[in-house]
Amino acid sequence: MAKRISILGSTGSIGTNALRVIERLGADYEVFALSGHNNVELLAEQVAKYRPKMAVVTNPDKIGNFKELLGESKTEILGGSEGLIKAASQKDVDIVIGAIVGVAGLAAILAAAKAGKVLAIANKEPLVVAGELLTETARENGAQILPVDSEHSAVFQALQAGAVSEINRIILTASGGPFRGASIEEIQNATIEQALAHPTWNMGKKITIDSATMMNKALEVIEAKWLFDVPVDKIEILIHPESIIHSMVEFIDGSVIAQMSEPDMCLPIQYALTYPKRVKGRQKPLRLEQMGSLTFEKPDMDVFGALKIGYQVAKTGGTATAVFNAANEAAIEEFLAGRIKFVNIVELIEHCLEKHTVKTEAKLDDLLLADDWARNEVKGCLNKTG
Ligand SMILES: NC(=O)c1ccc[n+]([C@@H]2O[C@H](COP(=O)([O-])OP(=O)(O)OC[C@H]3O[C@@H](n4cnc5c(N)ncnc54)[C@H](OP(=O)(O)O)[C@@H]3O)[C@@H](O)[C@H]2O)c1
Repeated sequence: MAKRISILGSTGSIGTNALRVIERLGADYEVFALSGHNNVELLAEQVAKYRPKMAVVTNPDKIGNFKELLGESKTEILGGSEGLIKAASQKDVDIVIGAIVGVAGLAAILAAAKAGKVLAIANKEPLVVAGELLTETARENGAQILPVDSEHSAVFQALQAGAVSEINRIILTASGGPFRGASIEEIQNATIEQALAHPTWNMGKKITIDSATMMNKALEVIEAKWLFDVPVDKIEILIHPESIIHSMVEFIDGSVIAQMSEPDMCLPIQYALTYPKRVKGRQKPLRLEQMGSLTFEKPDMDVFGALKIGYQVAKTGGTATAVFNAANEAAIEEFLAGRIKFVNIVELIEHCLEKHTVKTEAKLDDLLLADDWARNEVKGCLNKTG
């Protein structure tokens, strides 16, 4: 019987790649539910093409427009986060792909974990904010979390060669983003266009800005801590601008296992869907002889302050990671709206963390309250500065 898949965030960069992969995988995989937020034009096209059982429009202001665009259809149309939870936890669903951006995907991902689904997660923010709760819920309910983020997929693949207890170091590689090698002065007033000009990956806007501040790598350190149950001190970052080695695991005997390929998100998405099998894909073959050389350098934590703060909050835990994430999401919105400078993103995160009193044994309500508080704090700061 075909595996039935719900894609949370099917209209985004990961979501559209996931649909491409499912189409190529053929009759063994079937789209059960799709979701979009603002881009209802694309969601309507996807629903007409893949004829899922359910379609979720999470933005309530867009549902009328979506119904008009879709016209006559057998697909059940749902709205809001309740709709998303239903699409993620339905009895008939086998695999849930978490491809929403930000913490907005948290409730549905938790619902999928409670319902014991296979969770293919690209959406790293829920793991950053509620990693302990999410991984525990998955364990208790027999849900399997499979990473889609290319670095974590690489670590997961490397771990097929050894046990978690045999890890000496996880080395997460980073392209370095558009400002690799820049000084603080050079990136102070970076424009939106410069920050969005990623050298190797074509992704949604939020993660592209995260790559420019290197916040993305900080989020990935926390993501790796929860996914692989390793202390933060064993997770290192290495800049590798060619983006060929997607990450590595060094085992206690000194062996380093790296996963390599041309950069293309379809590969980690496919591996999460077909795991533990590998199937033929459309991956461009890797020709190392044509690459010439692969290069590596340590990141500059003074220029990319988000990295330093990321390690600190990863160790602190509790509500600190929720504040770290929410302040970043709110600050990026302000940056993309042209209301703050690039350099202000990390300053606002630092400000929120300084003002926040961390609650260590945090429950979901505490995390959501901390998230809300940080977003308001960012707005408050901007109102004060006019
Ligand atoms: N892109 C990559 O290559 C990549 C690689 C690794 C990890 N990731 C992670 O994967 C996630 C998705 O990234 P992306 O690049 O695919 O982002 P994206 O292109 O911006 O797509 C985001 C998706 O989330 C939906 N969405 C936005 N706001 C929402 C809300 N408030 N409630 C519900 N849905 C909402 C969007 O709907 P509309 O478009 O209809 O508004 C879209 O379907 C992120 O967590 C990112 O860090 C991405």
